[in-house]
Amino acid sequence: MPQHPRHRWLRWPSEPGRPRLAFGADYNPEQWPREVWREDMRAMKTAGVNIVSLAIFSWARIQPRAAAWDFAWLDEVMDLLHGHGIAADLATATASPPPWLTAAHPEILPVDRDGRTVWPGARQHWRPTSPVFRAHALELVAALAERYGTHPALAAWHVNNELGCHNVYDYSDDAARAFRLWLRRRYGTIGALNHAWATTFWSQTYGDWEQVLPPRRPAPGSYPNPTQQLDFKRFSSDALREHLRAERDLLRQYTPDIPVTTNFLLMGDTRGMHYAEWAAELDFVANDHYVIPGPQGLDELSFSANLVGNLAGGRPWYLMEHSTSAVNWQPVNKAKAPGELARDSLTHVAHGADAVCFFQWRQSAGGAEKYHSAMIPHAGEDSDVFRAVTELGATLRDLAPVAGTPREPARAAILFDWESWWASEQDSHPSDRVRYRREALDWYTAFLNLGIRADVVPAHGAWERYELVVAPILYMVPRPLADRLEAFVDAGGHLVTTYFSGIVDEHEHVWLGGYPGALRDLLGLRIEEFGPLLDDERVALDDGSTGTLWTDRIDVVDPATEVLVRYTTGEQAGRPAVTRRALGPGSAAYVSTRLGPAGLTPLLATLAARAGVPSELPAALRGAVELAVRGAHRFLINRTDRPLDVSALAGPGRVLAPRAVMVVTS
Ligand code: GLA
Repeated sequence: MPQHPRHRWLRWPSEPGRPRLAFGADYNPEQWPREVWREDMRAMKTAGVNIVSLAIFSWARIQPRAAAWDFAWLDEVMDLLHGHGIAADLATATASPPPWLTAAHPEILPVDRDGRTVWPGARQHWRPTSPVFRAHALELVAALAERYGTHPALAAWHVNNELGCHNVYDYSDDAARAFRLWLRRRYGTIGALNHAWATTFWSQTYGDWEQVLPPRRPAPGSYPNPTQQLDFKRFSSDALREHLRAERDLLRQYTPDIPVTTNFLLMGDTRGMHYAEWAAELDFVANDHYVIPGPQGLDELSFSANLVGNLAGGRPWYLMEHSTSAVNWQPVNKAKAPGELARDSLTHVAHGADAVCFFQWRQSAGGAEKYHSAMIPHAGEDSDVFRAVTELGATLRDLAPVAGTPREPARAAILFDWESWWASEQDSHPSDRVRYRREALDWYTAFLNLGIRADVVPAHGAWERYELVVAPILYMVPRPLADRLEAFVDAGGHLVTTYFSGIVDEHEHVWLGGYPGALRDLLGLRIEEFGPLLDDERVALDDGSTGTLWTDRIDVVDPATEVLVRYTTGEQAGRPAVTRRALGPGSAAYVSTRLGPAGLTPLLATLAARAGVPSELPAALRGAVELAVRGAHRFLINRTDRPLDVSALAGPGRVLAPRAVMVVTS
C-alpha cells in the first residue's frame, strides 16, 4: 500500500489552489422528497455554502436489505451538488445500523455495565469490538468507496459519526475478549497485570487471562479495581480508534488521494475518547462543538477550539458541527441571541478552523432532532436564522485570506491530560467532587480575564517551548512526565500546578513518601494529609480569595519555596495555600485549593508577572475581549453582551460581526 502523507486538507473539486474557508452543514436529503433537493441547492448558493457532509445516517436507505443496494438517490444528490459547485464530505454511513442488520445479528448490540442490552431505536447501537458489525460496516464502506471514489464532488471521507458519542463503553462478551487481548499486549504476562492492578488487595489475583473481565457492575456499595477501571477506559478509547483505522485503511486502499477524517466531540464533559491519541490517525482533525449554557459558555467554546487547534498541530481543522441556534438535548433549549451565531463561528476560525459547518442544513420536520436548529429553520428562508447564516457565508468569503494561516502560539499554556482526567475522577477517592476539566477551564478563564493568550495543549505534546505552563489537577504523573516537568523548570520554565497533582503513576499507584509524590521535590513541599472540603465549607486566604473543594496540609521542605498565600480560616489556618519554588530563572508553583475564576485571576496575574509573561491587551479591553492570532490576522472576540469600542487597538480593523468579532490585519 502506498504511504500517505498525513494532514491533507480537503480536495476541492474546483480551483484547488484558491484559498477559501469551507462553509456548510450536515445534509440529510433522505429526510425530504426529491423536489426539496433542488430548493436546497438554490438556497445553499444563496447562503454561500460550498461543502456538505452527506449520508451520515443513510445506511438503511443505501442498503435497505442485506443484499440490496440503492445508490440512485445518492448518485443524484452527488451530481446535483457537483452541478452547483458544492463539495461533499461523504460519510461512510456506518453510524446507525439499520433494523434488518440488528434483527439478523442482535449480537452486535452493546451491553451496559449491568448486562442489559442496548436496543436499537435510536442510533450508534453497535459494539466497537463486534466482528460481525465490523464486517458489515466495511462492506458498506467498500461499496461507497467503489461507487463514489472518483466522483468529482468528493472532497473528503467522513468516517462514521462522532465515534463513541453513545457507544464508547460496551461490557459485552465481545468487549471482554478484546479487552483481554488488549491487556495481553499491554502487560505481556498475567503477573505483570496482577502487579499493575494491585490484585493482592481484596483477593483479586488472576491465574489466567480468561478470568479477566471488564469492570461490570460490582457488589452494591463496592468499587471495581481502580486500575481495571482505568485500563477499561484506555481500552475502550483504543477499540473505537481501531474501528476508525479499519474504515480509514479501507478508504485509503480505494482512494489514496482523498483525505479521511472523523468528527471528534471535543466539548464539555465528553471524555471517553482520547483525542490527543486519535488526532494522528486523520488527514485533518474535525470537531463538533455545542455551546454549554452558563457564565463560562463562551470560554468553554474557546477552550475547546483552542485544544482542537493544538491537536491539529497548528494546521487547519474542520468545525464539522455546531448550531445556528437552539439544540434539543439540554433540559431547556434557548435560542441564540442576535450576533451569537457569528461570534461562535468566528471564534472557531480564530483558533484555526478553516471550515465552519452546522448540524444541519434543513431543520427536520420529524424524528428525534426536529427541535434542533438548522441553517434553514422550520420558519423557512424568511427568517432571522437564515439571514444570519447568509451574512456569515459572506463574512467567511471575505475572510478567505485567513485560510491555511497557522495559529500563532501563545507564550503560556494549559496542559490537558486525558489520563489525569479519567483517573482523577474515579471512585473511592478523597473527594468525588473533583472536576478536572472545570479546573482547567477556570484557569483558561483567568487567562482570558487578564488578556494573556494561553494555548491548551496535550500533556504528551511538545509544551517545552512555552514560558509559563499551568498543569491543573495533573493527578497521574508517570516518571517520564515528572522528568520532563523537572527539565522544563531547570531550563527556566515556569510551572504552576494544583491540588491533587503528582499523586499516582501510570497504574494509579500512589507515589510514596508524602504527596504530591512525583512533584514533591520540584515543588519543595510535602503533604501528609489531604483536606477535602464539604460542599458548604469555605476557607479564607490572606489574599482575600476564598477556597472550596480542597485544601492540603502543606509543609514547606525547601528553603527556596516561598509561601505566596496562606489560609486564614479552616483546619489549615496559618498554613501555606499557594507556594512558589524558585529554581534559577525557573519556578514551580502550587495552588492547593479551588479558587474559581474570581480567585485565580489576581493570582495568575502575579504568577504571570513573575514569569515575565505580559497581557497583550490594553487595560481597558482586558477581560472584555479575547485575542486570538492567525498569521497576520488578530481576532478580537467580544466576551461581553454589549458593543465594545476597540479603537484602543489601532490598526486597519474590520468589524466582521457587529457586537461580536473584529479582525485586525497587520
Ligand atoms: C451530534 C451529532 C448530530 C446531531 C447533533 C445534535 O453532534 O453528530 O448527528 O445529533 O449532535 O446536536
